Amino acid sequence: MKALILVGGFGTRLRPLTLSVPKPLVDFANKPMILHQIEALKAIGVSEVVLAINYQPEVMLNFLKDFETKLGIKITCSQETEPLGTAGPLALARDKLIDESGEPFFVLNSDVISEYPLKEMIEFHKAHGGEASIMVTKVDEPSKYGVVVMEESTGKVEKFVEKPKLFVGNKINAGIYLLSPSVLDRIELRPTSIEKEVFPKIAAEKKLFAMVLPGFWMDIGQPRDYITGLRLYLDSLRKKSSSKLAIGSHIVGNVLVDETAKIGEGCLIGPDVAIGPGCVVESGVRLSRCTVMRGVRIKKHACISSSIIGWHSTVGQWARVENMTILGEDVHVSDEIYSNGGVVLPHKEIKSSILKPEIVM
Ligand code: GDD
Ligand code: MG
Repeated sequence: MKALILVGGFGTRLRPLTLSVPKPLVDFANKPMILHQIEALKAIGVSEVVLAINYQPEVMLNFLKDFETKLGIKITCSQETEPLGTAGPLALARDKLIDESGEPFFVLNSDVISEYPLKEMIEFHKAHGGEASIMVTKVDEPSKYGVVVMEESTGKVEKFVEKPKLFVGNKINAGIYLLSPSVLDRIELRPTSIEKEVFPKIAAEKKLFAMVLPGFWMDIGQPRDYITGLRLYLDSLRKKSSSKLAIGSHIVGNVLVDETAKIGEGCLIGPDVAIGPGCVVESGVRLSRCTVMRGVRIKKHACISSSIIGWHSTVGQWARVENMTILGEDVHVSDEIYSNGGVVLPHKEIKSSILKPEIVM
C-alpha cells in the first residue's frame, strides 16, 4: 500500500520553530511530527510514503533518509514548482500512487496528530464500497475546518463545506483520507483544493463516506493547539503504553523524558511535559504544560509553564517563562528574566523581561 503526506506550506503559524526546520520536522512529544505519521503508516503495512512538497525538499529528504532504513519503508518526494494546493499534488504524484493492484492509498495532512486508526479505516473503506473515505472528529469550533454533514448510520457524506461562515455541523474533516485510484481521474494537474473542489463533488454523487475517529485528534499547526495536542497525546499514551511515561516523586501527571536527559534534585515536573534528548534540567526547576526540545539547558529554580523551548536554548536561573512563550532555536534567556508570551526568533539573547505577549526579533 502507498501513502501521500501533504507537506507543503510554510508553517507560518508555528514560527519561530519553523524558521529552523519545515513544519513536519518540528518535534512533537520528542520526535518530528511527520515520524508519528510515518510510523503509523508503516505499522499497518504501507510500503512507500510520498511526500508532496513545495518547500525545502533537501532538508526533509536528508533527514528522512535515516528513517528509511531504520523503519524499512520507502520515502520519496514529489516536488511542486508552484504550490498545487491540497489536491493538485495528488495529480502530480499520480504515477507513484497507483499500481496494477488497484489498491486505495492514504492521504494525510502533515500537521494532525491522533491515534491513527488506519486499519479500521481500510475495513470501513472496503465495507462501504464508495470512492473515498475520510476521518471526521467532533470539535467545539468547527469554522476553522472542513465541516462534514453525514448520515449517522452509514457514514455517507451529504455535504462537505470547507471553513463555513455559518454553522453547518460540528463534525470536521480530520485530514486523514483513504482514496480509491478513481479519485485521481477527478483531479487536474493545477492548483486545486481537495476540500473545496473534489470532496463536495464526490459527496454529491454519494460516493464519499466518513468514519468518526475514535480517540483524540488535534491539528498542531499553531502553538496553543500544539500544547493542547501534547496533553491529549500523553493522555492517550497513559492508556496505551504507560511504561513510556516518567515516574518518580518529582513527576506530576503525564510526563515524557528522553532517556538521555538529565534532571537535577528537587525539581517538580508535570503535568503534560515533554523533555527531549540531551536536555539538562538543573535542580529546583518547575515545569508544567510545556515542551523542552533537544539540547536545552534549564538552569536552577527556573519556572516554565504553557510554553515551547526550542532546540539548544537556555533558560537562566530563577527565570519565569509562561503564557505561550515560544523560544526559537538557540535562544538564551538570562537569569531572573520574566517572559509573558514572548515569541523569540532563533539565536537571540534575552536580557530584559518580556512583560506582554510580543514577537522579539
Ligand atoms: N504539497 C502541498 N502543496 N501541500 C500543501 C499545500 C500545497 O500547495 N497547501 C497546503 N498543504 C498541506 C499543508 O502542509 C497541510 O499538511 C495540509 O496540506 C492542509 O493544509 P493546512 O494549511 O494545514 O490546512 P488547514 O489546517 O487550514 O485545513 C485543512 O486541515 C483541516 C484539519 O486540520 C483542511 O483539510 C480542513 O478541511 C481540515 O478540517
Ligand atoms: Mg492545518
